[in-house]
Amino acid sequence: MLTATPHPFSVFPMSFSVVEVPSKEHAHFESCKKIRLEVFVEEQGVDADSELDDIDDHAQHFLITWKADSGENEIPVATMRMFSYDVPEQSGNLVLKMGRIAVVKSFRKHGLGRKLLEVAEHYAVSRSAEQQKPGVFLYLHSQSDKHGFYTRFGYSVVRSAAQLDELRDGKLIKEPDELELKSLEFVEDGILHVRMAKYIPCPFDQRKC
Ligand SMILES: CC(C)(COP(=O)(O)OP(=O)(O)OC[C@H]1O[C@@H](n2cnc3c(N)ncnc32)[C@H](O)[C@@H]1OP(=O)(O)O)[C@@H](O)C(=O)NCCC(=O)NCCS
Repeated sequence: MLTATPHPFSVFPMSFSVVEVPSKEHAHFESCKKIRLEVFVEEQGVDADSELDDIDDHAQHFLITWKADSGENEIPVATMRMFSYDVPEQSGNLVLKMGRIAVVKSFRKHGLGRKLLEVAEHYAVSRSAEQQKPGVFLYLHSQSDKHGFYTRFGYSVVRSAAQLDELRDGKLIKEPDELELKSLEFVEDGILHVRMAKYIPCPFDQRKC
């Protein structure tokens, strides 16, 4: 029987729980899907056929549920996914791409977006340590008007592959001004996006020697 795998950070203030959903076959994947259809398809007008794609077959999904103090039912309120991303020139680092980050409308601005990123980063660092990598690149296509959300958590808008090396070396990447941001935008699923990334070095003591 498939059961939910509680995340180490599974319970935090208020009645929220985080569930790791390792495959599409997991019982909680339907909840991730429900949130994505509500947020991306119904709210943002993304085509349903492109919203659910083959990447779901091999991605690691995350789900946050909420339970009212008085209620029995857990309500799915936030989700995202993460998957291996093949970029050859990353000096042996793990590269993961994050996407489909969504919090249902009535639960926004309560720290759930932040929690999703924390959980995903914890997962990424653990994978990096397991694989004895020096660190992990987290890569994403951010909706252009959401890039400020990711910037708050240390993600930078990247202009070129060379800037990934700068990130790895701990150099600060200058935030683009409004004009430059426009020049970096591209359309995906009918929405303007920009490329963003963050590098997290894996502490040596977490790597297996
Ligand atoms: C973007 C999104 C995931 C943020 O989730 P959230 O739960 O509202 O975010 P949080 O409450 O955790 O916010 C954390 C911080 O980011 C800030 N923030 C949230 N949305 C932001 C935005 N669009 N732009 C800039 N900052 C933002 C918050 O003010 C907060 O700042 P603080 O720590 O200084 O208080 C959510 O708005 C969402 O699901 N939107 C629709 C789907 C979507 O567009 N996803 C992104 C695809 S790239």
